Amino acid sequence: MSTVLVTGGNGYIGSHTVISLYENGYDVIIADNLSNSKMEVQNRLEKICGKRFKFYNVDCCDEAALEKVFSENKIDSVIHFAGLKAVGESVRMPLEYYSNNINSMITVCKLMKKYGVNNLVFSSSATVYGMSEDVPFTEESPLGVCTNPYGWTKWMLEQILRDFAKAEPSMKVCLLRYFNPVGAHESGLIGEDPRGIPNNLFPYISKVAGGTLEKLTVFGDDYDTPDGTCIRDYIHVVDLADGHVKAIRYLESHDAGVSLFNLGTGKGTSVKEAVAAFEKACGHEINHVFGPRRPGDIAVCYASTEKAEKELGFVAKYGIDEMCSSCWKWQTMNPEGLSDD
Ligand code: NAD
Ligand code: UFG
Repeated sequence: MSTVLVTGGNGYIGSHTVISLYENGYDVIIADNLSNSKMEVQNRLEKICGKRFKFYNVDCCDEAALEKVFSENKIDSVIHFAGLKAVGESVRMPLEYYSNNINSMITVCKLMKKYGVNNLVFSSSATVYGMSEDVPFTEESPLGVCTNPYGWTKWMLEQILRDFAKAEPSMKVCLLRYFNPVGAHESGLIGEDPRGIPNNLFPYISKVAGGTLEKLTVFGDDYDTPDGTCIRDYIHVVDLADGHVKAIRYLESHDAGVSLFNLGTGKGTSVKEAVAAFEKACGHEINHVFGPRRPGDIAVCYASTEKAEKELGFVAKYGIDEMCSSCWKWQTMNPEGLSDD
């Protein structure tokens, strides 16, 4: 059985990916410092999979601590999710973002080299396309100018990994550029569980729908889009998780080098459409008002999915209705999120 080390595997996308890997016959080891997730996720994963995964509470920047994970296990592949991801926070705390996101990846790479682990999947983001609105974004679209330190860490890490792969001829690196991951596992046991007031649209809508927040502010209705609100390519987190299994399989069956794929649905949904879809899922109106544009937002962002379909065999199965209904199930089953115990 092939073993995958999932760094940040206790987080939102990581925990869903652990399930997909397990369901596809992989053994999984999780390394996470719990800086943005709760240990209860491991209990939930055990409930869903009927198996307790090997878990290391470790900071991926701490080489000595992370080395234990590599020395105690025979690892075949790594999926590196560990990182900080809040755009606004990264503007206020750039050094923490550069330090955590870049050092954790470099430390993982050093240990992969030392222990002869050659397959690496990296969580990148559509944010590397910058402020361009030349949609759909293809993998050949030029990298843009990022608007915040978080985005730059992804941009820089893609380059660092290209350089690493060039210097290490046996390394196989797959860069995955996610569009907007939303939704939750069908069980309602795991989902997106942000600390404090959410910044992103879906967690915010969920809390308004659930009554914990009073109203949603839609940031701008004067964009050059059919209904005036921004358009994004929302992708169900379970589809995204499946994309990671396909990426691991791709690395297992291809030669060394760097590969790159967008993971999206190729379909754009406006903020107004997302609100309407959520209202359908929860059965009542979502209190919302229209406010000014949020700085740094682009009007339209969606993926070209052609390359992922052709080369990875990846096609997203779920649409906006399933994204909303799974989000709502997670919200109603866990109105306060997971407990911190
Ligand atoms: P998340 O915060 O839920 O998960 C990240 C996990 O990594 C958390 O459990 C956190 O505790 C852990 N972590 C952070 N720094 C660590 C470190 N130094 N050592 C060990 N663990 C550490 O975030 P997510 O939404 O699951 O995102 C996963 C990855 O995907 C991140 O790299 C993120 O930047 C990237 N990504 C996310 C989105 C999105 O919209 N959610 C979009 C594009 C890319
Ligand atoms: N929005 C609102 N009100 C809110 C929150 C968001 O109207 O309270 C709008 C935004 O203005 C935007 C859309 O909803 O038009 C989506 O916003 P999100 O914050 O959910 O997502 P973004 O597209 O801004 O950013 C996400 C991730 C980033 C990642 C980027 C590209 O948060 O980490 O996708 O992958 F870089």
